[in-house]
Amino acid sequence: MRRAAVVVAAGALLSGAVMHGSAQAQDVSAQAATLREAADAKGKFIGTAVADHRLSDSRYNNIAANEFNSVTAENVMKWDSIQPSRGSFNFAAGDRLVDFAQANGQQVYGHTLVWHSQLPSWVSNGGFNATELNTIMTTHITEVMNHYEGDVEYWDVVNEVFNEDGTLRQSVFQQTIGQSYIANAFRAADAADPNAKLCINDYNVEGDNAKSDGLYNLVQSLLGQGVPIDCVGLQSHFILDQIPSTLQANMQRFAALGLEVNITELDIRINMPADSAELQRQATQFGNVVSACLAVSACQGVTVWGFGDADSWVPGVFPGQGAACLYDDNYNAKPSYNGVLTALGGTTDPDPDPDPDPVEGCLASYQVTSRWNAGSVVQVGVTVDEAVSGWTVTFSLPAGESVTSSWNTQLTQSGTTVTARNASYNGSIPAGGSLSFGFQTNSGAVYSAPVVSLNGAACEAA
Ligand code: G3I
Repeated sequence: MRRAAVVVAAGALLSGAVMHGSAQAQDVSAQAATLREAADAKGKFIGTAVADHRLSDSRYNNIAANEFNSVTAENVMKWDSIQPSRGSFNFAAGDRLVDFAQANGQQVYGHTLVWHSQLPSWVSNGGFNATELNTIMTTHITEVMNHYEGDVEYWDVVNEVFNEDGTLRQSVFQQTIGQSYIANAFRAADAADPNAKLCINDYNVEGDNAKSDGLYNLVQSLLGQGVPIDCVGLQSHFILDQIPSTLQANMQRFAALGLEVNITELDIRINMPADSAELQRQATQFGNVVSACLAVSACQGVTVWGFGDADSWVPGVFPGQGAACLYDDNYNAKPSYNGVLTALGGTTDPDPDPDPDPVEGCLASYQVTSRWNAGSVVQVGVTVDEAVSGWTVTFSLPAGESVTSSWNTQLTQSGTTVTARNASYNGSIPAGGSLSFGFQTNSGAVYSAPVVSLNGAACEAA
């Protein structure tokens, strides 16, 4: 029953969100204000690749938890992470992702069992014969899938097995075992966890072309041989303005074979610097990809390959390109976020300004970071459960204490009441994100931290 534990019923409240503060609660189920709420309402998954080393950043962690109902390990379930030397299995980082997913009511999409890349040299350069390598491959699949049985819904059993012309890539598995390694891998996977969905995953197979024809012919042949294969993953690492026009038709032809077909690694890269017109087109194109999935009933969901531009693999591999994700370098939602949300049937903030919306919940920190006899410096931070477009933070200072300067805010004071509004550049806070600003006063008096309110609602103290 793993699936039932994972997919949240249509319209259900966000299972990963923690409610803070006294706020004016709204029925967010009707609004579908997050990606996962909107996807839940459609009975689909919206996923993200998760970088293990980024989970300790609260902004990253909150967005991963609150916006997505599916997660894929960006690296830590690959062969070189899990079995770096023969017979030595290291599941710690993969287990962290499973724990994260279970804490947040998310499905885990397993990536990946057999791949020519991120393959330790003891495998790629081991000089094994076909029987030995087949045993090594089968053992890896069996050990990993047994370990995660019941916790991982899908597995990319084989990844990137094709050349661009539709012939099979000459990986160590292909060269040593021959094409039968693919069927062997799926059979081993099915034996290890009969309930997992078993997928073949690749890039540049999103449109109708020689490579996707090769993939189509292979899966058709595997199905004909009774090989247990359930799904095709279209990675979808796209370039702005170059989304294949045949995407939906191509998905449909795989669906017609009786296979599930998902978008597994979506991003849309742009030549840097990206201007606002490009970001708007990117939003439309993200939305179009999601819409193509929704239009094909065999498409169960879309996974983005990381959500923040700062964490994306793109600039490292394609110098001069980037801005490929849903959030910018500071985890502010980009137009592309709204493109996905809207395509999923969710609602973006209909009233962004000038009257900020009340917040669902917030957690506020108020810290005097330095204090001397005639002054103090205060840093205020507020973390929000729901996305906020425009913010006004209010609190009181002791009588006689005046603000003398401030930063990252437009701040006014009337008597003891301080009102801090967003600056032009920091008004948009994504769900799970934070605002912060600071100020200096003319007094070093010691006092208790005041109640901090956001857009009229009192926040819980952090
Ligand atoms: O773990 C080492 C670390 O010990 C070392 O200090 C560091 C120095 O560079 O490298 C670390 O390994 C990096 C690894 O990511 C983990 O962070 C590798 O250099 C780096 O090449 C690797 O990149 C990953 C890439 O797959 C490898 O091919 C990307 O993060 C990951 O996003 C990318 O994901 C792939 C999918 O799995 C398959 N489809 C294409 C997609 C994008 O390339």
